[in-house]
Amino acid sequence: QVINLADYQPTEFVLERVDLTFELDPTETKVEARLIFHRREGVDPKAPLVLDGDELTLSGLLFDQMEMPADQYTATPESLTVRDLPASDPFELTITTIINPEANTKLMGLYRTGGIYCTQCEAEGFRRITYFLDRPDVLAPYTVNIIAEKAANPLLLSNGNFLGGAGYGEGKHFAAWFDPHPKPSYLFALVAGDLGVIEDSFTTMSGREVALKIYVEHGKEPRAAYAMDALKRSMKWDEEVFGREYDLDIFMIVAVSDFNMGAMENKGLNVFNDKYVLADPETATDSDYANIEAIIAHEYFHNWTGNRITCRDWFQLCLKEGLTVFRDHEFSADQRSRPVKRIAEVRHLKSEQFPEDAGPLAHPVRPTKYREINNFYTTTVYEKGSEVTRMIATLLGKETFKKGMDLYFDRHDGQAVTIEDFVKCFKDASGRDLTQFSLWYHQAGTPLVTASGSYDAAAKAFSLSLEQMIPATPGQSDKQPMHIPLNLQLFAEDGAAIAPTSVESAEYTGTILHLTERTQTAVFHGIQTRPVISINRSFSAPINLHFDQSPADLALLARHETDHFACWQALTDLALPNLLKAARDAREGNPVGCETTFVDSLVAAAADESLEPAFRAQALALPSEADIARELGGNNDPDAIHAGRQAVMKQVADAGRDTFAALYHSMTTPGTFSPDATSAGRRALRNAALTYLSYAENSPVRAKAAFDAANNMTDLLHALTLLAHRFPDSAEAAEALSTFRDRFSENALVIDKWFSVQATIPGGGTLDRVLKLMENPLFKRTNPNRVRSLVGTYAFANPTGFGRADGEGYRFLAREILDIDRRNPQLAARILTSMRSWRSLEPVRQDHARAALLEIERAAELSTDVRDIVERTLKG
Ligand code: ARG
Ligand code: ZN
Repeated sequence: QVINLADYQPTEFVLERVDLTFELDPTETKVEARLIFHRREGVDPKAPLVLDGDELTLSGLLFDQMEMPADQYTATPESLTVRDLPASDPFELTITTIINPEANTKLMGLYRTGGIYCTQCEAEGFRRITYFLDRPDVLAPYTVNIIAEKAANPLLLSNGNFLGGAGYGEGKHFAAWFDPHPKPSYLFALVAGDLGVIEDSFTTMSGREVALKIYVEHGKEPRAAYAMDALKRSMKWDEEVFGREYDLDIFMIVAVSDFNMGAMENKGLNVFNDKYVLADPETATDSDYANIEAIIAHEYFHNWTGNRITCRDWFQLCLKEGLTVFRDHEFSADQRSRPVKRIAEVRHLKSEQFPEDAGPLAHPVRPTKYREINNFYTTTVYEKGSEVTRMIATLLGKETFKKGMDLYFDRHDGQAVTIEDFVKCFKDASGRDLTQFSLWYHQAGTPLVTASGSYDAAAKAFSLSLEQMIPATPGQSDKQPMHIPLNLQLFAEDGAAIAPTSVESAEYTGTILHLTERTQTAVFHGIQTRPVISINRSFSAPINLHFDQSPADLALLARHETDHFACWQALTDLALPNLLKAARDAREGNPVGCETTFVDSLVAAAADESLEPAFRAQALALPSEADIARELGGNNDPDAIHAGRQAVMKQVADAGRDTFAALYHSMTTPGTFSPDATSAGRRALRNAALTYLSYAENSPVRAKAAFDAANNMTDLLHALTLLAHRFPDSAEAAEALSTFRDRFSENALVIDKWFSVQATIPGGGTLDRVLKLMENPLFKRTNPNRVRSLVGTYAFANPTGFGRADGEGYRFLAREILDIDRRNPQLAARILTSMRSWRSLEPVRQDHARAALLEIERAAELSTDVRDIVERTLKG
């Protein structure tokens, strides 16, 4: 069943108030929902009220406290229809359902994890708790009463402010919460159980004191300290940068170990995958710390962008997600190094969103139809959505963007709105027509911009021709030209920035050229010598750029660009042709050889002490095998891509051996461990040097020594990965893997890493290892993090292992998807998206991939989640 944006209608009944009472029991929880409604004005007085359900059984229904006559309603697991309701007067329905949290393996609605009751309601989980108008445009204040056994559940939490609690019969107690801010059901949360807590407080800009609490399993409290610090920094930053103040007396975070996604922004009670809360130097890497900081901020920022102003319908998901990702990106950029953060963002966008946008699962940032909304929590909605918000900021400039945001908060606080409402705020604040720009929300596919430049020495003029092409995507073949803001700068041969005397162009503000036509030319006058141009600096637009620049020009940009993102881009552009050629050579059995300009520029950047270590580490991390596959575009052979890249690594390693050895010795971080960005950058650079040394030396000895000497998880995991991936059959690798497992067998998050390291060992032989690991007692099929760490990582991040030429990897995935789908459809559907680029494989692998997809499609019982993904993947 397909849901269409065009069919949107407001509800016929208005929900005024919600009063919920939970009597918690592991297998028989009683939920009583008292809902006050009235019929919306102008609606047919005979229209019935139809509430959503999902696997529900009704056990009682009262109308204004009186038993509802049986002929006035119909209840099925999926809906409750009530007839003969008042024409205009408010009325109260009291709905009782009995649910089984223990049996809820989908982890949607109310479920149990590690002895804790917890909920996940976004997008449509609330209807698994009670019959409801379960859609984001139905907002109401909630009162929640929770009754449970006291010994097992000393903690009873829900949204809003705590009203009070007391004993309740033998061995039980209750607590009551009231959330005064009207909210949609997807933001409801309940947590009950026995947890440890760390507490702190935050004084808001208007002087209100907010209690901060982070709940974790007993004994893990110290590992929540970094998350608390990140929370306080997020609260401060949102006040300073967006003028947003927190609005309840208490803000709580609960970390649970079974969770489908990263985290959830329930009002006043965020629920987190514990992976994004728990950290200490022994068990968390620098990237874990960075992720925790970003996700804590993301969920907190949702309080305004998502909760106070929410989505009218789920088509508008990017209204809250794109904007909130943009806000968390800006937060991290301010807390850390802005250019390094930008490089990491773009790497992520290109490796995750670009393939999605180029494959069968491509969809617009604001889609117009879906079968299963859970399948639209995608990098397109999140990351491309964030880039679109960033482009609005670029087009309008900082000040005007801020005015638009202020207008948005003023105008729409307390409402459920659309992307059109959002964009209109920026139109009104700036006076700029954003009609063409809005195509970014509606047209899927990554625009391809082709640029060419020519210099006229006699006229002292440089002309730049640009052409844009938006590729066809499923359901969208004809595309309009888009409004693409290109940040650009000319440089002279000596590396100095050039200011032209005049520019003939469509709108050009001095840094931003507005590409709005299919083809467009800009002429820069007063250019004394042949310039080198840098285009799409800071990645001002999420496009693919084709621009033939000589290695010498790229090397110049790598050295002199003042925008460090663009420096990194130049180094990447130098590397790519070498990697592509290496893949082709490896496939044809030719020797692989790299250009010296590329190798020299890379080694020079590594050694350049004027550049921050984190930047240099990013420069040394060559485009991944997936990046190379994407650039090659089709008929891909993962083995050749891998072999070619290995050969390039080896050449860089040999050429830069002395530099890498020096870096390995100098980039230490003495003293006690600190997760700050500068120290993390030094570790990243030192570990990058270690990687190259392992290629130059072709021996596991140094990596093993690094493993033995490591005093933090970043270094330990890097060394372990190097040993396992580069020397999988060595005694050193085997010993390191077992030492690591024994040392951390009690720590689930670290054991996830142990599984992932092994799942990503290159080569076809890894499947046998994965199969054996699935029999390991440490492998837990019911834990999403564990399943992702082994099955997910193998499918997403091991192109040669998963992409075995004999297709066994794809067949393995098909079997696992069917198995996971029986318990947890969301998880199964998510892992299945690892097949999104199957059509870019060479024909033999394509056939195997298709066969595996067909096997899934043919299965007798499939969730809507998996059916939707498999059908789109096969068709698109
Ligand atoms: N809104 C959450 C976040 O971005 C994601 C929750 C998605 N959950 C889901 N079941 N689809 O922060
Ligand atoms: Zn979010």
